[in-house]
Amino acid sequence: MLFKDTWLGGAHVDLRSDGEHITAVGAPGALPPLDGEDVIAGGLLCPHFAEPHVHLDATQLGARYPNVSGTLVEGIANWARAREALTAEDVRARALTTLRWYAARGTSRVRTHVDTASAVAAEALLALREELKSGFPGVPGLSVELQVVAFPQEGILRGPGREQAWREVVAMGCDAVGAIPHFERTADEGWRSVRMAFELAETHGIRLDLHCDETDDPGARSLEVVCAEAIDRGFQGRVVCGHATALHSYPNPHAAKVIALVAEAGVQIVANPLDNVVLQGRYDHYPKRRGLTRIDQLWDAGALVGIGHDSVVDPWYRLGRADMLDAASMAVHLGHLTGIEQMNRAFRTLHHENHLPFGDPPALVEGARADLLWFAAADPVEVLRLRDRPRVFQRGQEIVCSSG
Ligand code: FE2
Repeated sequence: MLFKDTWLGGAHVDLRSDGEHITAVGAPGALPPLDGEDVIAGGLLCPHFAEPHVHLDATQLGARYPNVSGTLVEGIANWARAREALTAEDVRARALTTLRWYAARGTSRVRTHVDTASAVAAEALLALREELKSGFPGVPGLSVELQVVAFPQEGILRGPGREQAWREVVAMGCDAVGAIPHFERTADEGWRSVRMAFELAETHGIRLDLHCDETDDPGARSLEVVCAEAIDRGFQGRVVCGHATALHSYPNPHAAKVIALVAEAGVQIVANPLDNVVLQGRYDHYPKRRGLTRIDQLWDAGALVGIGHDSVVDPWYRLGRADMLDAASMAVHLGHLTGIEQMNRAFRTLHHENHLPFGDPPALVEGARADLLWFAAADPVEVLRLRDRPRVFQRGQEIVCSSG
C-alpha cells in the first residue's frame, strides 16, 4: 500500500507499507506507485492512539444505572450498587464493547483502572488482558494491548478490609498500583496512602497510577507528596497522576512550585477533561470552575502530560464514544489551548505522550510495524475540528470494526 503526499509529523511524505511493516518513507513523489498497489492520496497519517485512563469495570453501565442528577456523588452510589451485581462474563462483554469502540476510532493501547473492591472485576479484566494477547475476539487482524491498574475507588484507609482487598488485587498481577489520597479521611492519611502505594509498587516491581487531587479544593496537597516520593525512591518516569484538578485552583505561587516539582519528578499528569468538566465545579455556583488541570503551564515547565477519556457510558458519565479526539478537543476548549502549536501538541499527545505509561511511543519510520491511522484531513487542527473516524491499519492490514 502507498500513501502519497500525506501529512506526517509536520511534513508531507510518501509512505509505503507491505503486509507487516513500513518499507519506505520519502519526499512527495519519491515513491512511484507499483503495479497493482493500493494508493491513498493526501490526508494525514499518525501512529495509533493510546488511552492512559479509563474505567472498563464500570463502562456501559450508564444506561443500566442512570445517574439522574448527573453528579459525582450519585455516580459513586450507583457504582456501589452495580459493583455488587458484577459477573465476570458481564465485565468481559462490556469491556470488549468499549475496547472495540476505541479500536474503531484508532486506539489500540488502553490502560484501565479496576476497583479493588471487586475481585470479580479484577479477575475478569486481568483475564481479558491475557486473552487479548492472542487477538481481539470477532475482529480479524485487530490486536489491542490492555493494562490494568489496581484502583481503590473508596480509599484504602477509610474502612475495614479495603487495604487488604487492594493488596490482593495488586498481587493478582496488575500493571500498576493505584491510590486515591484526596478521598482518604484526612490529609495525613492521604499522604500515608501515597507512601503505602509506593511501597507496594516497590514490592511488586511495578509502576504507580494514582487518582490524585481530583477535587476543586485548593488545599489538596497530595500531588507534591507523590512527586517527592517519586524523586526520593527513584521512580521518575514510572508514575502517573490522573486528574490533578486541584492544581487548577491552587494559589498561583503554590501552583508554580508544584508544577516545577512535577517536571523534576518525571510524573506524568493525565488530564481527563470530559469527566472533570461535569464532575468538578459542583460546589461552585457562578462562576463555575472548569475542573481541568493546568495543561499549558505543565507543558511550559517541561512536564509530561497525557489526555484520558476516563469514562465511557458509565455511572459517572453517561456520554462518550471512546474517541480520544473528543477528549483532546475538550481539553483544547477548556484549557484555552487554541493556539496552533497548542492544538498540534494536544493531537500529538494522543499518539505520543499517551503511550508513555506503556513504554516507548511508536514512530512511523522505515522498518516500524505498519500500525497507522489515516484521516481525511489536511492537518491536526482539521482532525480535531472534524473528529471523523480514521481508517485504521494494523500490520499493514485495514481493520474493520463497528464503533457502537
Ligand atoms: Fe478515573
